Amino acid sequence: MCGIVGVLGRHEAAPILVEALKRLEYRGYDSAGIATINAGKLDRRRAVGKLVNLSDRLVHEPLAGKSGIGHTRWATHGEPNEKNAHPHRKGGVAVVHNGIIENFRELRTELAAEGITAETDTDTETVAMLVHHLLSTGLSPADAARAALGKLEGAFALAFLFDGEEDLMIAARKGSPLAIGHGDGQMYVGSDAIALAPLTDTITYLEEGDWAVITRAGAQIFDEDNRETARAPRKIRIDAARVDKGGYKHFMAKEIAEQPTVLADALSAYLVGDTINIDQQAIDFTKIDRLTMVACGTAYYACLTAKYWFEKLARLPVEVDVASEFRYREPPILPGTASLFVSQSGETADTLAALRYCKGKADSILSVVNVETSSIARESDVALPIHAGIEIGVASTKAFTCQLNVLLLLAIQAASQRGEMTPEDRSALLSDLRSLPGLFNAALQRDATIEAAAIKISEARDVLFLGRGLMYPLAYEGALKLKEISYIHAEAYASGELKHGPIALIDKTVPVIVMAPHDALFDKTVSNMQEVMARGGKVCLVTNAAGAEVAGEGTWQTVIMPDVDDRLAPLLYAVPAQLLAYHAAVAKGTDVDQPRNLAKSVTVE
Ligand code: AGP
Repeated sequence: MCGIVGVLGRHEAAPILVEALKRLEYRGYDSAGIATINAGKLDRRRAVGKLVNLSDRLVHEPLAGKSGIGHTRWATHGEPNEKNAHPHRKGGVAVVHNGIIENFRELRTELAAEGITAETDTDTETVAMLVHHLLSTGLSPADAARAALGKLEGAFALAFLFDGEEDLMIAARKGSPLAIGHGDGQMYVGSDAIALAPLTDTITYLEEGDWAVITRAGAQIFDEDNRETARAPRKIRIDAARVDKGGYKHFMAKEIAEQPTVLADALSAYLVGDTINIDQQAIDFTKIDRLTMVACGTAYYACLTAKYWFEKLARLPVEVDVASEFRYREPPILPGTASLFVSQSGETADTLAALRYCKGKADSILSVVNVETSSIARESDVALPIHAGIEIGVASTKAFTCQLNVLLLLAIQAASQRGEMTPEDRSALLSDLRSLPGLFNAALQRDATIEAAAIKISEARDVLFLGRGLMYPLAYEGALKLKEISYIHAEAYASGELKHGPIALIDKTVPVIVMAPHDALFDKTVSNMQEVMARGGKVCLVTNAAGAEVAGEGTWQTVIMPDVDDRLAPLLYAVPAQLLAYHAAVAKGTDVDQPRNLAKSVTVE
């Protein structure tokens, strides 16, 4: 998604803006630009492609001024080119935008009647045109911005600069997050705290519908009814140094390797002996008859996994939906239902919209998030942090396993509260969970074997992932990882489904990756595997030693994982799924951390 930054500073704004935009690169983008005010005059520089192109532009055509706004664009309307790059400008106003203005065509028609025409294909330019028109009627910059905001429909985070106004920035938030940073006689705006981390540790998050008049002296914040309001500043703990690759080639590699550490951190945050630090006052599973879980992408596969745990351990019925489908189905939310939303960023528009659908219907709104200050966290009754630390790679890795960790702890809590798990079983499973970080380290030692398999897989055009039971959702996650960073077409199937059609796809060009520890369903999976091999299919079996002994003969590739309690296998086997995708992508030379067309946080529907 697009990234927004702004500064009213004491130093040249251009380098500060570019550095802040670099910290937003992880969100995914295809062009970038900045605008500054120098001696009262607005000017801008933009470039298509990576930020380095903008930096080169600024070397040859420097931009002076201590007030500025900047933007990384993930194209929604209009192709990625310099003309469509932000900041957009009309007359004496420049604007940067994250989101979608859904009524921009109607507004353009109205403005054309006033003789104001567009020069780009973007919805954002319409905002600049509208404010420019309102300024020309004699309104002040703040009044013109306020009036324009009242005409916009859709989702937006916006920041404006005005000709002649060196000490003024207007910011607004509706549907897309925006933070105000407080410095010493300097003020900032940013799409998230990561962008502002090196500049300030004091952040004010705008709430839904808020807009702000910002000067170096501070920010005046108004709610959606234009009433002045106070939003409490927060101290953020982002360690500026932590947002780097730490010697790894890619953020994704670093974040895969961090999993033992962050899992251990999360377990120590949630576990004191066999006590799970989730307050029963906050979440009482004895009062819940049904749990609905809603998420997108990798977070959705974490929910599909958790369904097995809640239903098997706690005997609690669970429904799982992709967020983009959920609210349009208008599902009945009956009394006794808890709704749980899983999101790494906490800003995914579809998931946030699903949460708002459940507000006032479900008995409680729960969320499992990585960003504790995010919109989804703030709008939940109870938000459970996963403690994964900042995740920069667009492909979610450590966040997935940390989501699973918290969801499993919740399921164990539910099982105990509902009398479905004895203290002895609880203690044994928690003990196995505490040993997981060590097993993750052992799994990471399989990197060379996995890399060898991945390099072979990278030559394929189509790949299938198979899993049964708890490993079925992981097959989906493995397929998503591979396709989103290596661009190889990959699909996941329940192993038992193969003979109902997909086996027609099998030939010697199609690797089949079978995620199967030697568990109660292993023999059935072996049968499916042999059906594949009998037809020339190339099987990459990811299993443990016992599984390899039984079924490793004749497979194309075999990855032998450490032994783990069957119920914890989806967490541990996420490592080979992640590494297979990573090494396949490296072999193909794709942009591992910022794959084409993707964004880290999808803040538009
Ligand atoms: C996963 O690798 C992808 N980056 C994507 O599917 C992601 O999981 C999805 O967009 C949900 O994001 P969220 O967890 O921030 O809500």
